[in-house]
Amino acid sequence: MSQSRRYLSGVQPSGQLHLGNYFGALQQHIANQDDAFYFIADYHAMNSVQDAAALRENTLSLAATYLALGLDPERATLWRQSDVPEVTELAWMLGTVTAMGLLERAVSYKEKVERGQEARVGLFTYPVLQAADILAFDADVVPVGKDQSQHLEMTRDMAGYFNRAFGQEIFKSPKTEYGVAPVVPGLDGAKMSKSYDNHIPIFMKGKALKKRVMSITTDSTPLEEPKDPTTCTVFALYSLMATEAEREALAAQYRGGNFGYGHAKLALLEKINEVFGPARDRYEALMANPEEIEAALAIGARRARKVAQGVLGRARAAVGMNPRPVDPA
Ligand code: ADP
Ligand code: TRP
Repeated sequence: MSQSRRYLSGVQPSGQLHLGNYFGALQQHIANQDDAFYFIADYHAMNSVQDAAALRENTLSLAATYLALGLDPERATLWRQSDVPEVTELAWMLGTVTAMGLLERAVSYKEKVERGQEARVGLFTYPVLQAADILAFDADVVPVGKDQSQHLEMTRDMAGYFNRAFGQEIFKSPKTEYGVAPVVPGLDGAKMSKSYDNHIPIFMKGKALKKRVMSITTDSTPLEEPKDPTTCTVFALYSLMATEAEREALAAQYRGGNFGYGHAKLALLEKINEVFGPARDRYEALMANPEEIEAALAIGARRARKVAQGVLGRARAAVGMNPRPVDPA
């Protein structure tokens, strides 16, 4: 038996990837690539993106982002969720053992509806599809940001319901793993999120990037007075990318006075360009070559599908179904 722990995670193709996604999740994905499974959650994104051109573009963009950041499609499996139909099949099965009450407690659903999103079935059953994403691949570890903790608990609950209902250990119970920054702050100090429009896309550049960085909310301590780095969003973001020595140096400038937030913002801007500049160039080159991206996704889909078919075979047998007849060639 292999001793390795299988990593699996998904990200929705719902816009450009931001610093919160990177330091909350993707950084760990890139760091753990052996026996790892990462996918583009396009079925999930249908809850917010209902425009074919946008879904297509966002999907390619997210795949290019993974590749540009160093995901090696030979080592890790990278695919589009919708290319593995076994996942939606399993979501149905999990729905039959899951109580309405479990989903009614979902914080993310309640928050979205409170903020004005229409209460649709796809949004409500989102955690069932997410559980299927994870359980269909026998994942051991799911690296995500803190906002996903309840969805992961629900996944473990659903695995338990299914195993108990059919009297067998069909599904593994996955562990949640947080990255270096479980909650990255956004421009206004609240959790960075596309949906709050307080995010900084990792590959943004030039004037647009400068405008975002300069708009980070800071307090009104006058320029000459000492400042507290520990309560400042600019410092928090800088710290995610800087070395220990750079961090200490900036903290000393905050505490020394005669150093304004504008100076700190320029240091942050330079850091973002330094850390993400090379990957941004690779990203732009990949986006000019969509066939290369599609080729990587096609390899991933084949590999992912094989694994999911094996797991679905176990589930189908447990519930009293036959192995799926092989398609005539
Ligand atoms: P968004 O909130 O911008 O729509 P997603 O829900 O697509 O982001 O999140 C994709 C991944 O990034 C998830 O694993 C999520 O937990 C993580 N993530 C998103 N925002 C943050 C943040 N501000 N801090 C840490 N992790 C985050
Ligand atoms: N719900 C996750 C998010 O919004 C995306 C996601 C879908 C996911 N399926 C998953 C994450 C399976 C981890 C595992 O970020």
